Amino acid sequence: MIERPYRPRRSVLYVPASNAKALAKLPGLACDAAIIDLEDAVAPDAKFAAREALQAFFAERRASGSTGGPGELIIRVNALSSEWGHEDLLAARACHPDGILLPKVETPRDILEANDTMDDEDAHPALWLWAMIETPKALLNIGAIAELGRDPGARLACLVAGTNDLVKETGVRMTQDRRFLTPWLMHMVLAAKAGGIDVLDGVANNFRDLEVFSRECEEGAGMGFDGKTLIHPDQIAPANAAFAAPENAAKGVLTIDGRMTERLHLAQAERLLAKAGNLGDA
Ligand code: COA
Ligand code: MG
Repeated sequence: MIERPYRPRRSVLYVPASNAKALAKLPGLACDAAIIDLEDAVAPDAKFAAREALQAFFAERRASGSTGGPGELIIRVNALSSEWGHEDLLAARACHPDGILLPKVETPRDILEANDTMDDEDAHPALWLWAMIETPKALLNIGAIAELGRDPGARLACLVAGTNDLVKETGVRMTQDRRFLTPWLMHMVLAAKAGGIDVLDGVANNFRDLEVFSRECEEGAGMGFDGKTLIHPDQIAPANAAFAAPENAAKGVLTIDGRMTERLHLAQAERLLAKAGNLGDA
């Protein structure tokens, strides 16, 4: 297993695999990553066509040699327990994305099972697994799930908060300040940091009010998230502005003069600079 590289993941846009117009827009978008979705964004009767559209998208991209748009392309498959999951996983692997996002992960076993399939199929070692945290059971097991980030044999690189499902599964009221969700989100951040992996905030459903959205991004950044998942291209710029901007890495180093500086600040700065470097390559 190769070392997990630092990647900027400030803005991570969901794109339904069934939406040809949205897929075609991707090369022109400035999001750090895109999640091409076979799961929640695709209706049951469109699952098969969406998988074919996904394969055609990656085949075309390979044929044209295009590298424009998001620095990472991730595929969200259906849950492995669903009728589509296993076929999705094999199809996704064959597309050679940067990562595969597993929905409804509840135990470390769920990740290790997908991991085994990847290893069986001899996938590239740099094919990462991302995990949706969106059920009560996942939250209760979050420490053990995130700890897989420390396992050199596991491919886990990133956790993604599934806030809509969490609201649905728990019955908490969704308020604009997300006060009832916040303890769980903070716990998720803590677990991800303990496991040495990235963690992304959930989506904001109202994509027309960018002022409210910007505030939510600032909050997510303040909570320690590495970035935010998005549903609409208009949300990319505010997310990029709110989360660990690469230029701030340099600023952080410059402003240490005259202030107590510890080694942990150096590690933080190095992490940001590594992200900035990767952003430059994207
Ligand atoms: N990715 C790429 N392009 C997108 C996009 C997305 N997620 N959402 C919208 N666009 C494009 C539209 O195709 C449209 O393109 P055009 O200018 O060429 O016509 C443009 O951005 C403006 O879109 P707009 O008309 O404002 O919105 P819409 O009504 O087309 O789409 C949604 C609204 C919510 C249906 C759409 O944004 C969407 O499907 N988002 C993703 C939802 C999702 O994946 N959910 C699951 C995870 S929570
Ligand atoms: Mg979900």
